[in-house]
Amino acid sequence: MGKDVTDVEKVYVTRQLPQSALDRLDGKVEWSVNPHDRVLERDELLEAVADVDGLLSLLTDTIDAEVFDAAPNLRIVANYAVGYNNIDVDEATKRGILVTNTPGVLTETTADLTWALIMAIARRVVEGDKFMRAGKYVGWAPMLLLGSDVYGKTLGIIGMGQIGQAVARRAIGFDMEILYSDVFVDLPPVAEHLLHADEVEIDEVLRRSDFVTLHVPLVEETHHLIGRRELELMGPNAYLINASRGPVVDEEALVEALREGVIAGAALDVFEDEPAMKPGLAELDNVIVLPHLGSATIETRTEMADLAVTNLLSFFAGERPPTPVNPDVLG
Ligand code: GLV
Ligand code: GLV
Repeated sequence: MGKDVTDVEKVYVTRQLPQSALDRLDGKVEWSVNPHDRVLERDELLEAVADVDGLLSLLTDTIDAEVFDAAPNLRIVANYAVGYNNIDVDEATKRGILVTNTPGVLTETTADLTWALIMAIARRVVEGDKFMRAGKYVGWAPMLLLGSDVYGKTLGIIGMGQIGQAVARRAIGFDMEILYSDVFVDLPPVAEHLLHADEVEIDEVLRRSDFVTLHVPLVEETHHLIGRRELELMGPNAYLINASRGPVVDEEALVEALREGVIAGAALDVFEDEPAMKPGLAELDNVIVLPHLGSATIETRTEMADLAVTNLLSFFAGERPPTPVNPDVLG
């Protein structure tokens, strides 16, 4: 027997996503999407979730006890991101609400962007582009915009999960030595050998690397993981790359360090008070700033939407969603 109309689950999507994925919800659930091309205001979000069973949320939505209180029927939050620091997962678990994320599908794309940042900061690509457009180029010059080699250097990877490992694989082509630290991951010796990678203490990663790239999740332990002390350990020839989460870096300390030449430069895809930047950051030449583009390709954003939708549909079909964050609530 078909489902009674009143039995059909309701899903709210907090922002327009690739349509082909959303179309898969048709006929399975009753769904609606934020009609505005912007993040929902808090009161709009609280109102939108009032009668929903499922929520497809973004990293720009704070999903916490107040949202759960406003959504008494809510049973699943499918986050459109691998990171889920925007969701109070403990509170969700307490209430028996499943949280899912989108790992895997964005790994290679985020590693590509990380490499775009490494290359661009080392070879002053953005500065060079601005220089050309400003009409300042009057001819090849031996000392014009000299950068730093990437080939043969030491790459420090803090957080050697899936994205960190994808970044490391790309470094093979640049004949780099890799130093990494991770609280949970120990690569097997064969992988360390293939990647020219050594696991060392985080301070040693900072001290010995020419490029330090961050691939940790944002949790209490990684908040301000990189501050003044760590930047001083890196030293005046080293570059910091961050395509993880903004608050992993003490951004005020970073601005000060960049201004004083404590490190050579930084390339950032994420910010502590995103979308805002700390005062002074945008005025510095030795920094590249991007608007959180880590997973921003047509292919990957579509796959992320597909995975989030699959998580929702399998949950409502009584199957195990592919990528649960708190699988305990599934029993
Ligand atoms: C992007 O930042 C993500 O967590 O997916
Ligand atoms: C620079 O353009 C060179 O050819 O060395």
